[in-house]
Amino acid sequence: MAHADIRAKLITLRDEIRRHDYLYYVKARPEISDSQYDRLFRELIELEQAHPELVTADSPSQRVGAPPLGELVKVFHKQPMLSLDSILDQSEVQAFDQRMKLELETQFVEYSAEPKFDGLSVELIYEDGIFTRGATRGDGNTGEDVTVNLRTIRSLPLHLQAQSHLPGHLVVRGEVYMRLDDFQALNRRITERGNDAFANPRNAASGSLRQLDSTITATRPLVVTCYEIMAASTPVPPTHWDELERLAQWGLPVPTRRRLCSSIDEVVAFHRETESMRDQLPYEIDGVVVKVNRRDWQSRLGMKSRSPRWAIAFKFPPRKETTIVQDIVVSVGRTGTLTPVALLKPVEVGGVTISKATLHNADEVARKDIRIGDTVKVERAGDVIPAIAERVPIQGEQRSTPFCMPDRCPICGSSVGREGAYFYCTGQLVCGAQLKGAIEHFVSKHALNIDGLGKKTVAQLVDEGLVRSLADLYRLTKADLVRLEGFADRSATLLLESIAASKTVSLERFLMGLGIRQVGQHIAKVLAREFESLEEIMSADRERFQQIREIGPEISESLAVYWSEPHNREIIAQLQQSGVQIAPGMARSDRRKSPLAGKIFVFTGGLDHYTRNGAQEAVETVGAHVSSSVSKRTSYLVVGRDPGSKLEQARTLGVRIITEQEFAALIRDGERSLS
Ligand code: IVH
Repeated sequence: MAHADIRAKLITLRDEIRRHDYLYYVKARPEISDSQYDRLFRELIELEQAHPELVTADSPSQRVGAPPLGELVKVFHKQPMLSLDSILDQSEVQAFDQRMKLELETQFVEYSAEPKFDGLSVELIYEDGIFTRGATRGDGNTGEDVTVNLRTIRSLPLHLQAQSHLPGHLVVRGEVYMRLDDFQALNRRITERGNDAFANPRNAASGSLRQLDSTITATRPLVVTCYEIMAASTPVPPTHWDELERLAQWGLPVPTRRRLCSSIDEVVAFHRETESMRDQLPYEIDGVVVKVNRRDWQSRLGMKSRSPRWAIAFKFPPRKETTIVQDIVVSVGRTGTLTPVALLKPVEVGGVTISKATLHNADEVARKDIRIGDTVKVERAGDVIPAIAERVPIQGEQRSTPFCMPDRCPICGSSVGREGAYFYCTGQLVCGAQLKGAIEHFVSKHALNIDGLGKKTVAQLVDEGLVRSLADLYRLTKADLVRLEGFADRSATLLLESIAASKTVSLERFLMGLGIRQVGQHIAKVLAREFESLEEIMSADRERFQQIREIGPEISESLAVYWSEPHNREIIAQLQQSGVQIAPGMARSDRRKSPLAGKIFVFTGGLDHYTRNGAQEAVETVGAHVSSSVSKRTSYLVVGRDPGSKLEQARTLGVRIITEQEFAALIRDGERSLS
């Protein structure tokens, strides 16, 4: 075939496949059988394999196969992704209607109502009709780039249908979620392989979409529904209703169940009808979203700090079912926290079978007075792990004795410590339940910073029995690593090199890596500044720690308890025997030479990887300063979760705005890390 013919053939094949994807995944009205579809798809793949130069980004073949990512990259949303205010009662929806009428100075407001999908919100960007980028909502200002993962969702068109009005630049918002039957099948698959099941479809959707390896996402049955045009380079239809129609014309999936309501009473009826069919729907919804239909009115009503005034989530009450507590067991989390868990006689709550519920902590068990054998109401509010709402007293019942927390860890037998209502295992580095978490923490960026040792590899190393303690990391050989799935000669060499490079580490990073309770980056730095050596810290007592300004009784206690456990000292000895040695920290005189010396940083919003003090310390190590307010002199504004008004000020003043990730890179690698 001539090259031009092959190109033409590829175009026809792709259009054909897209049409069938649309019919199958969006319209649910397939026209061909699965095997006919597979044949078309194979034909495309074979032709593209023979002519890789003709592969396009929007080809259906490109839905899978992107290489795994090291971490999800943060993206800043040009338009903030707002949230919705929620209401539960009919009276509140009436009040909402009154507010709208008052503000709009009218008696008649038309509403568009649609289900509130219980998934996670995404931003989808199309350039010239081609899907180019997608991100999670995150905190509304910064989300994560999940483009390659979104590409694997078959109901998401990679290529919009070229209708008139197709804008060159289009930003759409939608919800990614999982059908209930798919969710249950996925959980069965996962648990058969010995992994933990997802608590609910929403967690499953979120976990699947936020994968680093898109080939895993591709095996997860995600779906998407779109409900808003966030930005477009050409005019958007005048009403929300028409906006949805327009999205549908472009081939995007939109809520099939929706209603244009000419009064709030019709909205209430829609809510009632939708709630009554909730259990028959193949996916989870947790309410109805009510939106003022006219977009000019939406603009007039405007928004509050993080939600629009013109829309509201009219939620359904959480579902509760009655069952029996068969046992109360204690699970040990990755950080050593002991959580009482009720094992229940399996019960179905809104399409999901529940056989366990968290009891949170000992105080909660006592407050609700839950004992083995009790009849209880379990509740699944959509966004939370199932919880026991209340006990149902039964007349004349014989109750068992009240539950109490164990004084030894059920996994490793170490003694149990207590912080307020929380109990924890003190065996950090010897407890099987905590080993993976402890290693992940030890090798993490702000601790020993071992590159290439992500969560997945840590799990493999522990599961294969190659690593039973921190020191085992330093005994790994190439032969060990190449046996693991996903490792080749080169990746094994690289990992061994970064493990070897971590052998010389600052006192501060080493302390941080141990994961001592209450000792994060900041306190590790304080300790490293205060003491000459690790040995000195190990022989200090509570009183000595308390003499340090930033260290209070709780941290002193935690340090003292930590060093009193012989197994912790043993681990330090093992690490030292394996060649780990502590290098002196960055001397004060070095700071002036840093290229960031003199820069001024301002922070807004919550940070994921630093405490505020930690971030300040990091800035100070490079000779820069932190200021509490934005001015023209500010060098960088670091934006975390839920930023405040500083963000607007920085935008107005043209101050460079960076994410937490960029900040970390900046501190580590200097300004060349920012493009
Ligand atoms: S509209 C500015 N419509 O609910 C309005 N949101 O609690 C933006 N959600 O974060 C939202 N279904 O993830 C809208 N039909 C729907 C929705 C919906 C689910 C989610 C969305 C949002 C959350 C707010």
